[in-house]
Amino acid sequence: MPYPATRLRRLRRSESLRELAREVRLDAADLVCPMFVDESGRRSGIESMPGLARVAPRDVAGEAGAIRGLGIRAVMLFGIPSSKDAAGSAAHADGGVVQRAIRDIRAEHGDSLAIMADTCLCQYTDTGHCGIAGEGGRIANDASLEALSRVAVSQARAGADVVSPSAMMDGQVAAIRAALDAAGHADVAIMSHSAKHASSFYAPFRDAASCAPQFGDRLTYQVPYTSARAAMQEVAADVEEGVDIVMIKPALAYLDIIAEARRRFDVPVAAYSVSGEYALVKAAAERGMVDGAAVAMEALHAIRRAGAGIIVTYFAREAAEALRGAQ
Ligand code: PBG
Repeated sequence: MPYPATRLRRLRRSESLRELAREVRLDAADLVCPMFVDESGRRSGIESMPGLARVAPRDVAGEAGAIRGLGIRAVMLFGIPSSKDAAGSAAHADGGVVQRAIRDIRAEHGDSLAIMADTCLCQYTDTGHCGIAGEGGRIANDASLEALSRVAVSQARAGADVVSPSAMMDGQVAAIRAALDAAGHADVAIMSHSAKHASSFYAPFRDAASCAPQFGDRLTYQVPYTSARAAMQEVAADVEEGVDIVMIKPALAYLDIIAEARRRFDVPVAAYSVSGEYALVKAAAERGMVDGAAVAMEALHAIRRAGAGIIVTYFAREAAEALRGAQ
């Protein structure tokens, strides 16, 4: 008796056929692994992100080696500085926590890992805002651009391959590009958080990196989740300003934005699967409600299918392990 396959089920009959017919394939080299580096020198678990830790500066190069060992080719560094001030000056200190981490990773791993640095101020300002607060607590665009440019140049000087502005200030790509070029870093790329939405999915990150705004919110600079057109305007502006990679953030609730950016622009499109996306899966898995590993893989493939070629994700390590096991 022939197998009674219907037309649409024919290519689903066996695992080998399913593998043959699949359209998206996730690779460890598509993933960017975030790292939180804590200047205090302590290693501490992140309560709201089970399985992840803030690492001590002395452990950074070793951690990066473990990440590279899984086939992941890029890390994204976030600093947790020991001091904050109004100007966020620790963000551009040559001996700053991220700058030192960049040098350590480069010294140990050369070019085998791409080093990306988050270029923002919110962990470093006492206001917890991504820009510089001016009159009446309003976030001043020009002053913020100047500060962000200094941060980017200091990260480039330390040896970053990619700077990743996440402050959502208008003109941040143009300002940073000009500053990098003027400082002799024309070869450093910019992966902008082009369409970074004002999202409640960032809560675990703000806990992990102590960067919650101390007054107000980020609604005056991040993109509202009620407008896909505003997101496209942001992406278009970054492309015009010479961005190398555009990023959409968060990922899972914004697949339409990722797909649209992929369709409209000929630059690499990255997606940032944020802390809340990770936490939701982990929390449900811990309670036995879902198979966390399976849900994570499904989500990452969906983000890939939507059009993101690069995915920043807290699942990077476990996904890379799973991909290796599946070979
Ligand atoms: C800071 C920054 C945030 C994230 C990345 N960089 C937080 C925010 O804007 O409040 C969020 C990342 C995540 O939730 O995983 N500019």
